[in-house]
Amino acid sequence: MNSTVYVNGREFGTRPYGYSSFSYDITSALVPGENLIAVRCDNADQPNSRWYAGCGIYRNVRLVVTDPVHVAYNGFYVRATQVSDAQARVVMTVETAGTRPGMELQYEFRILDAKGRTVARTEAAGAPVCEVSLDLARPHRWDIDDTYLYTAQVSVSAEGMKDTYATRFGVRTTAWDADRGFFLNGRPLKLLGVCLHHDMGCLGTAVHFRALQRELQILKDMGVNAIRTSHNPPAPELLELCDEMGFVVMDEAMDMWRKRKTQYDYARFFDEWHVRDVQDFVKRDRNHPSIVMWSIGNEIGEQSDSRDDNTENLTPEQANALLNFIHSLNQNDPSENNPNVLLTRHMAQLIRDLDTTRAITAGCNGVWPGNNLLRSGALDVYGFNYHPQLYDSCRVWFPGKPLIGSETVSSLNSRGIYFQPSTDKKKLPGRGWMYTAEGEVDWDHQVTAYDACSAPWADFHEDAWIAVRDRDFIAGTFIWTGFDYLGEPTPYGWPSRSSYFGVVDLAGFPKDAYWLYQSEWTDRTVLHLFPHWNWREGEPVDVWAYYNNADEVELFVNGESYGRQSKTPELLHVQWLGVPFHAGSIEVVSYKNGREVAREARYTAGEPVSLRLTPDRRTIAADGYDLSYVTVEALDANGRVVPTATDMLHFSVEGAGELFGVDNGNAADTLSLKGRDKALFSGKALAVVRSLRGEPGTATLTVSSDFASVKTNIAVK
Ligand code: GAL
Repeated sequence: MNSTVYVNGREFGTRPYGYSSFSYDITSALVPGENLIAVRCDNADQPNSRWYAGCGIYRNVRLVVTDPVHVAYNGFYVRATQVSDAQARVVMTVETAGTRPGMELQYEFRILDAKGRTVARTEAAGAPVCEVSLDLARPHRWDIDDTYLYTAQVSVSAEGMKDTYATRFGVRTTAWDADRGFFLNGRPLKLLGVCLHHDMGCLGTAVHFRALQRELQILKDMGVNAIRTSHNPPAPELLELCDEMGFVVMDEAMDMWRKRKTQYDYARFFDEWHVRDVQDFVKRDRNHPSIVMWSIGNEIGEQSDSRDDNTENLTPEQANALLNFIHSLNQNDPSENNPNVLLTRHMAQLIRDLDTTRAITAGCNGVWPGNNLLRSGALDVYGFNYHPQLYDSCRVWFPGKPLIGSETVSSLNSRGIYFQPSTDKKKLPGRGWMYTAEGEVDWDHQVTAYDACSAPWADFHEDAWIAVRDRDFIAGTFIWTGFDYLGEPTPYGWPSRSSYFGVVDLAGFPKDAYWLYQSEWTDRTVLHLFPHWNWREGEPVDVWAYYNNADEVELFVNGESYGRQSKTPELLHVQWLGVPFHAGSIEVVSYKNGREVAREARYTAGEPVSLRLTPDRRTIAADGYDLSYVTVEALDANGRVVPTATDMLHFSVEGAGELFGVDNGNAADTLSLKGRDKALFSGKALAVVRSLRGEPGTATLTVSSDFASVKTNIAVK
């Protein structure tokens, strides 16, 4: 936030919004020999965000050297129109910078297929803004299972100067229907989405390609097909990966307009900067085939006219609680000229002026007809945050409008922590006392991993999914959140410092709900049994399993059958309640038509005696960027994972790599995520090893505890 760029002491500009990409033409300040580029970043006024936003330079910076005549920054717009199986018309618009009036510009446009062969080509001459169309015969569609990418290339030349610029794009159609949701290439596609904040867990907010790729792969394996970039423009690398890996994206502009949510946030700059920021956002991102909708904002205060939500004197926690409760209570001025209605139209128009090929939406938590954003008529798709019990009313209130669950769930779970009984469902923190009662509810700053805990404004995983599953007119869901993130540690205060909302924890380890979604959202055979089987003798324990591709599941406790259970349309897991614990094992077997499909067991583990290290990649590139994520688990004397281990670990890396981060997914762990010590949490910890630039060899990670010291080698090539 608030970056100012200087070159050799000369100021080039300030950008208040920390999520905007921008460029400066610094040519005029350069001198032969050494030059100094300085960036001042001022993040001193706090709070200015509802989550951990990071500080400093956290996205990639490039020095781009061109001839004076060149394709302007974000100045090449490519879109496929009139798409059929036989043909697509690709429209390309280029803006050229560095021209003089009267200069004769020559253009060459090409489309290359995925193998780099030119499949269409044309030339043009003329003005600094030039638009051409090329027809592509039998276009290969971009789809989530077949992410075929073409490249569009433009060369501009004049007076011996030349610049060539290329961008990838895809040929696909999107459509929205008020009754049947979203269509990709003519095929209905329920959006099975997650919201993601931009941080990379223990690596902070600096973007790392490999960290993003891993995050998306874990989500893909869960069955996710859609990402919402809550609540701001993402790093461009995320969009490249979504293009390649096959996700559709809701690209979101901001978390507030004029009405602030924290005292020093972007609302301070909105009036002066929003036009520029929205334009830069759309121009940067509009060639990505993965993006299927633009969101003009999340839970924007202007949904209501009330001034009550002025958060000047509130802590971020109080402001957030308020944000989640008040909107439906307000009465708006119903006039057509309501300034907030006009502002909504203006925001949507800023986008439409630059891209008409995608739907415009917003994440609205004020689910009522008087909502200024909804009644403005400016939104193509109505996005609802939470309130699934109002989906049917929404159909009546907003006839003919496509609807989507732009934000759903907000369940609270700690990986591997189970409170008995699982039927004791909790909404935390309770409504009356919100965030004020530090210590009033505190189970060691953890929440249960059974699907039995959510924020008070929100829903349990199963309920939220069933509401979307059963309604074709709800185009999809975006779970809050895919991964845990830094900040917003609802329902606790310090020492909790990261969220409990993730289906996957901050370290990237799935919580149990991950397999709920995998069983519902994929065809892969799933049978997931929990909790662990390390309890006090005789203690009653609720045993749950998620499964699919089978019609019943049988539980065995120490070999003895506890009977078969089936899930129902309303209960998406099977459960055996109050099973008395006796050391040994539990095992579930799933059957289809009486034949075994899968089985899974949990064993009572003894004391930890050794450690197991499992790198996600044993070979990484010696480029100073590549990462290996190493999972650490404690094993007992029989080689069984100890699921309750909390032993302290010490980490070091020698050779061709460095220790780059450590984590365990415990939201209340106060040891540094960049340190050398981290305890196991629910039996697991994580070390991230980064290669050193230009130093191939072997990176050796050593992890030691009171009872063991083990090493693993990672080849760096
Ligand atoms: C929503 C908000 C998110 C997050 C979430 C927590 O209202 O859009 O940013 O705060 O609540 O449940």
